[in-house]
Amino acid sequence: MNKRFLVVAGIISLAMIFLAGCGGDDGAAGEAGVSSDIVVGVSLPTQREERWVRDRDTMIAEAEREGIDLRVAVADADVAQQAAQVENLLAQGVQVLILAPHDANAAASLVEEAAADGVPVISYDRLILSDMVDVYLSFDNERVGELQGEYITNLVPSGNYIVMSGAPTDNNATLFKRGAMKYIQPLADSGDITIVTERAVDNWLPENALNIVENALTSNNNEVDAILAPNDGTAGGAIQALSAQGLAGSVPVTGQDAELAGVRRIVQGTQSMTIFKDTRELGTAAIQAAITLAQGGSVETNNVVEGVPSLLLTPHVITADNIDMLVDSGYLTREEIEGN
Ligand code: BGC
Repeated sequence: MNKRFLVVAGIISLAMIFLAGCGGDDGAAGEAGVSSDIVVGVSLPTQREERWVRDRDTMIAEAEREGIDLRVAVADADVAQQAAQVENLLAQGVQVLILAPHDANAAASLVEEAAADGVPVISYDRLILSDMVDVYLSFDNERVGELQGEYITNLVPSGNYIVMSGAPTDNNATLFKRGAMKYIQPLADSGDITIVTERAVDNWLPENALNIVENALTSNNNEVDAILAPNDGTAGGAIQALSAQGLAGSVPVTGQDAELAGVRRIVQGTQSMTIFKDTRELGTAAIQAAITLAQGGSVETNNVVEGVPSLLLTPHVITADNIDMLVDSGYLTREEIEGN
């Protein structure tokens, strides 16, 4: 055997070990060469919001810890891309599918395809609107909305409100809004609050929120007293629009996700609150549930949402007064929050 052959053979075998270890679209669990009997597929809608990056990283780390073969695909907030990725995961023979849908309705057909292959589906964070979902793992999303609505109406019990909700394709957006309106609607009915603008933010895009708030400010001569923003991304867009009118910090704005940028705005005083959902807990729970389902067990749940057995974790309000909760739990560091 000549030297050149040995080098080439070495490269090929290293590449094969690497592929075996990765075994996925987009990174996976296990050290090189770890093989496992349990193969789990994950399909996430996006990595745009920081939280989804954490969901992904947590699942990969937990799968690695458990020594299971995890195959992760991320769709770019695109229905067709998510469908193609899920079909690809099923073709790879995953035994369980963890699916966070970009579109709650469209994903129902993916659940049917999985069921046809005998693959149980965990609806992750966002509910897939299908009665064939095996289990739903999320936070108490209606409670998220209640916390936002309660907070903003306590702070601003009367005046002009901009009410924004998340992407209409996301069932969570419906739940967040339902929760928040439990507090806002009665005050609107009594005439204390005037909702000057009520709009959904397509695709959860901050620039869409910016446009909504910009237009609302223009058509109300800047007379806006409070803004319900469903998450930190849309809060960022709203605050940019306020800032352009010199109003950042004088109009309370809600948020959600405890994103670094959102928490920094809370420290600076331009955003009033956020909601902390420990996505590390959710990601870990999803991998554990997938292992349980792969072994034919049943997942422990504490709720039922739209007829689907669900495990709902608890969301927490974060304001300037309790940012320590994020630091103490290791979600963010003091340096990150206070850094420039
Ligand atoms: C999630 C939020 C996130 C939003 C946009 C929702 O379904 O629950 O945490 O901010 O989607 O990605």
